[in-house]
Amino acid sequence: MEAEPTQSNSMPGTCVWGKGKVALVTGAARRVGRVIAAALHKHGYNLVIHCSASKDEALAFAAQLNSSVRGDSAHVISADLSTTSVVETSERLVREAVAKWGRLDLLVNNAGVYLATPLDQATDHHWNYLMNINLKAPYFLIQAAAPHLRKVEGNVVNLADILGERPSPPLSIYCTSKAAIIMVTKSLAAELGPQIRVNYINPGAAMWPEKADDAFKKDWLSKTLLGRPGTGQEVADAVVFLASPAANYITGSGITTCGGRSVTL
Ligand SMILES: NC(=O)c1ccc[n+]([C@@H]2O[C@H](COP(=O)([O-])OP(=O)(O)OC[C@H]3O[C@@H](n4cnc5c(N)ncnc54)[C@H](OP(=O)(O)O)[C@@H]3O)[C@@H](O)[C@H]2O)c1
Repeated sequence: MEAEPTQSNSMPGTCVWGKGKVALVTGAARRVGRVIAAALHKHGYNLVIHCSASKDEALAFAAQLNSSVRGDSAHVISADLSTTSVVETSERLVREAVAKWGRLDLLVNNAGVYLATPLDQATDHHWNYLMNINLKAPYFLIQAAAPHLRKVEGNVVNLADILGERPSPPLSIYCTSKAAIIMVTKSLAAELGPQIRVNYINPGAAMWPEKADDAFKKDWLSKTLLGRPGTGQEVADAVVFLASPAANYITGSGITTCGGRSVTL
């Protein structure tokens, strides 16, 4: 007979199942990453908030969590993940994150860049910029984090995109980077199991790209089965689920939060 589920294996609700755990969320100063970080903090995690250009916003966010929610529960580390030294930078980021509370339970690879690169205009710089931030940094962050995650049977959530599964010209380099992070997820889930789970999220339009115009939004929504854009919270809910004990039997897998947009992409 199957055992009754215990509280630690139940879906996150009011119980603070992340208490005492540490999450590193990249690109967490603003937009989707910030909503993910806030949701994890609400579930009890101590947060390492990574940022690059948005350091002031990251510091203000951490100060708000530390002063009005829980003292000494959010810490900021800045690092540019676009450079040629992305491997060393990833190692430093994890080293500094672990130094803060002595452990790491969850890595959320959220930082990303979105850029149109028509083939006849694409450059070596475009390729390296997109690939370093969207693919190489997540890969080497997982490499650096793995020994720490293994000790606590932690997990990784990578932010991919529905465009990682279907092309969307002229975003070929972006789409390739997201297709590759899906393969990284599956490959490393195989390498790192059974101690570490690795999963991904495929958002659709969770928060519009900052340069999206009205025509783009209208066209996108006309092909979205649920007829509206998503929210950062809806992505964060999926991250929280994958990180939680309720997802203990899920690895090498993904959740698509796109309102049905990918059905007709
Ligand atoms: N928004 C959506 O609807 C949507 C849809 C599909 C997929 N996604 C994926 O979900 C994730 C979050 O989406 P988003 O729209 O919130 O992303 P975003 O605002 O475009 O970027 C997220 C963060 O990436 C960080 N970043 C950019 N350049 C960096 C660099 N050189 N070094 C280190 N960090 C850098 C930024 O941190 P700083 O501001 O501190 O520089 C930024 O806050 C991304 O991976 C994105 O591809 C989002």
